[in-house]
Amino acid sequence: MLSAVPGDVTMTKELRIGLLGYGYWGPNYARVLSELAEVELAGICEAAPERLRRAAQRYPHVALCRTVEELLQLPRLDAVVISTSAATHFPLAQAVLASGRHVLVEKPLALRIEDCERLIELAARQQKILMVAHTFVYNAGIQRMKHEMRREEFGRIYYLHATRTNLGPIRMDVNAIWDLAPHDISIFNYLLDEQPQWVSAVGTCVLENPREDVGFLTLGYRNGVIGNIHVSWADPNKVREVVAVGSQRRVVFNDLNDLERVRVYEKGVSVGDRTAESYGEFKLLVRDGDIISPHIDPSEPLKNQCMEFLESIQQQRRPLTDGEFGAQVVRVLLAADASLRAGGQRQEIR
Ligand SMILES: NC(=O)c1ccc[n+]([C@@H]2O[C@H](COP(=O)([O-])OP(=O)(O)OC[C@H]3O[C@@H](n4cnc5c(N)ncnc54)[C@H](O)[C@@H]3O)[C@@H](O)[C@H]2O)c1
Repeated sequence: MLSAVPGDVTMTKELRIGLLGYGYWGPNYARVLSELAEVELAGICEAAPERLRRAAQRYPHVALCRTVEELLQLPRLDAVVISTSAATHFPLAQAVLASGRHVLVEKPLALRIEDCERLIELAARQQKILMVAHTFVYNAGIQRMKHEMRREEFGRIYYLHATRTNLGPIRMDVNAIWDLAPHDISIFNYLLDEQPQWVSAVGTCVLENPREDVGFLTLGYRNGVIGNIHVSWADPNKVREVVAVGSQRRVVFNDLNDLERVRVYEKGVSVGDRTAESYGEFKLLVRDGDIISPHIDPSEPLKNQCMEFLESIQQQRRPLTDGEFGAQVVRVLLAADASLRAGGQRQEIR
């Protein structure tokens, strides 16, 4: 797996990776990267002194700095993981790629499609990996869901529905749609292996935020398949659920259920060979069929995602969620913005 090309970074066993951003999510990267045998966590860059102090306590032997320029001066640095707020992704990823390092950047890739395209071009020119952290694509439960949907027994996909609600955490640079919906858009695109053709979106600012803290998106895929997404920072009921309804099966992914992450409902709704004679019997008809919870080997999605980054560097291949995958998600978000401004009108996705 390790290449032996002279001068290639993969000649050494370890990849030296730097981390940019040690806020809420960054410490998870620091832990995962420091646990991977093939990686040396070479440095942590964090602008906030208090957070940098916390990193120093936890990782006393790792180089610490406060600016991207300092991070990029670390000797033999091969790659950088960017876990900063969305609005900073583009300039930071650009600086990392321009310095000749591979980059894994948190979602969304950038806030403008021109910036996504510039990063994709720069990565190609520099012959470096540009990967976007769409973590759910590396979640064993979502992968199992895709497996179930591909089986003949699932039948034809009718629609997808995702709910991602909680109380915050409220972001200062983007609305709840840009913060949360990238997860569900990436999940839908991965499950269906295609991009939506149009989107319509509505949202409200119930918490007196300047940006929408609640959003409802409808995505239109080929053959009339609909994907619906509900995101909210203002709902005290935390839900992390994706449902796929097909002609023969219903598959549910529940990220909060550790014991039964995926459930397969063997009953479909297209059955027309028995006629219900009463409402009671109709309910029974709908409910019959087994509910199966397939065994899923436990694995940490963030670790799987970091492994994909490493392997794509080592094998010099495109990662599953490459720059183009990330740009497609941004295209949907931008079309959703346009739809929000137009009172929910359907917008074609270019
Ligand atoms: N995949 C997931 O499930 C998941 C979960 C949470 C967050 N995220 C993503 O991770 C990213 C970070 O989110 P967060 O919740 O940790 O945000 P955060 O605001 O808590 O942390 C970001 C940190 O980056 C630092 N920072 C920003 N610009 C910097 C710069 N130029 N140099 C050095 N440090 C800088 C800030 O000081 C802050 O501490 C976001 O893109 C978010 O969407 C992903």
